[in-house]
Amino acid sequence: MSGLRVLVTGAAGLVGAEVCARLAEQGHTVLALVHNRPEIVRNDGTVVRTVSRPGPGLVSCVAGDVTKPLLGLNTDRYLELARGVDRVVHSAATTDFGRRWETYESLNVEGTRNVVRLAEECTVPLVHVSTAYVCGESVGRVSESSLDSRQRFGTGYERSKFLAEQEVHASGAPFAVVRPSMIVGTQESGVIRDFKNMYVVLKLFTQGRVRSVPGFYDALLDLVPVDYVAAVICEVVNRFWAAEGRTFHAVGARSHTLLDVSNALAEYPMFHVPHYVSPSAFSVDALPADERVYYRRIIAMYESFFRRRARFDATNALGLMPWRPTATGVDYLRTLLDHCVRVGYLGRAEPGIGDVLRLVGRQG
Ligand SMILES: NC(=O)c1ccc[n+]([C@@H]2O[C@H](COP(=O)([O-])OP(=O)(O)OC[C@H]3O[C@@H](n4cnc5c(N)ncnc54)[C@H](OP(=O)(O)O)[C@@H]3O)[C@@H](O)[C@H]2O)c1
Repeated sequence: MSGLRVLVTGAAGLVGAEVCARLAEQGHTVLALVHNRPEIVRNDGTVVRTVSRPGPGLVSCVAGDVTKPLLGLNTDRYLELARGVDRVVHSAATTDFGRRWETYESLNVEGTRNVVRLAEECTVPLVHVSTAYVCGESVGRVSESSLDSRQRFGTGYERSKFLAEQEVHASGAPFAVVRPSMIVGTQESGVIRDFKNMYVVLKLFTQGRVRSVPGFYDALLDLVPVDYVAAVICEVVNRFWAAEGRTFHAVGARSHTLLDVSNALAEYPMFHVPHYVSPSAFSVDALPADERVYYRRIIAMYESFFRRRARFDATNALGLMPWRPTATGVDYLRTLLDHCVRVGYLGRAEPGIGDVLRLVGRQG
C-alpha cells in the first residue's frame, strides 16, 4: 500500500503521539493537529521530529482547536486539509474525570461533531478513538457492537464519549471506532509517558493517603498497554476498508480483579494496600479528616471503577490484529509497578500533615 495522508487530532497526547510516530514509520504522511502543546513526545520520551513541508514518513504540525468551527483554521487551510487527507484519526479529548460537564460537552462531544463534519464534507474515512467505558456501569460481557443499552454512567467523561460515538455513528462519513480500556504502560517494560487517572489513584493508595474505599474485591479493571492501543489504531488506519463500520475493543489480555491488584501491591513492602469495604457499609464521614479530603477531591471521581464487572469482548480486534496483548495477570501488574518504582513515581511517601499530627498527639 502506498503511503496515506493521515490527519491525527490530539497528536501531542499520550495516544496521539504514539500513533503519529508509528504512522510516519510506516511511510505515511502525518498531519498532526496540535493544540496547546506543540511538541510531540512518544511514550518512551523520544521527541518526534516535525517538519514544515508534509511528506511520506514525516510528521508536520497544524495548530488547531477541535472545539471551534473549521477546527479553528481559516477556510482555505481547512478545505486544503479536508480535501488533502485519506484518513482522519480523532484522538483529541479530555480524559480528566473531574471536569465540568460544559468542558466534556464542548471538547469531547462538540469537538467530535466538528471532526465528523470535516470527514463528512470530503468523505474521508474517520477512525474515532473512543473508550471501552462507554458501556458505563454495564455488567457482564460487553460486545463491540453494543453502544446504547440504557447504561448508567459512572463519570461525565464516559457519558461524553458515549455521546461522541453517537455523533460518529450518525455521520455520513465512513468510520471505524477503536475503544481502549484504561491505558497503562507498555507490555515489555511498563513504561508510560503520563502518570494520570488510575496512576494518581494508585499513588494515593500506595502512600496510604486513602486506606479504605467502597468497592468489591471481585470488581474488574481492564488495563491495556499503550503500545497495543497505538498498534490497533494504526492497523485500523491501514486496513480501513476491512474495518469500516465496525468497533474494536483495544483491551487487555484479560481483566484484573481488585484482589489481583491488592495481591500485586502486597508484594512491595513499602506500599500500603487499600481495603475495599462493601459500598453499603462505607461512610465517607467516618474517614479520618485528611483521608476524607483525598477521598472527596480525587477518589470519589473513580469510585464507580471499584465496583464494575464488565468483561469486554474483543472478537473484532483479535480478528484484525496480527498480535494481541501478551502481558497479563499479576506478572503484568508487577511490570507496571516496577516501572513506577524505578522512575520514582511510587515509593515511600513523606508523612502527610494528618499522620504527623496523630504521631505528635500520641507522643504528647
Ligand atoms: N488515556 C486513557 O487511559 C484512555 C482510555 C480510553 C480511551 N482514551 C481515549 O483516547 C484518546 C486519547 O487519549 P489520551 O490519553 O492520549 O489523552 P491526552 O494525553 O490527554 O491527549 C489529548 C489530546 O487532545 C488535545 N486537545 C485538547 N483540547 C483540544 C482542542 N480543543 N483542540 C484540539 N486538541 C485538543 C490535547 O492537546 P493539548 O494538551 O495541547 O491541549 C492532547 O494532545 C481520547 O479520545 C480518550 O478519550 C484514553
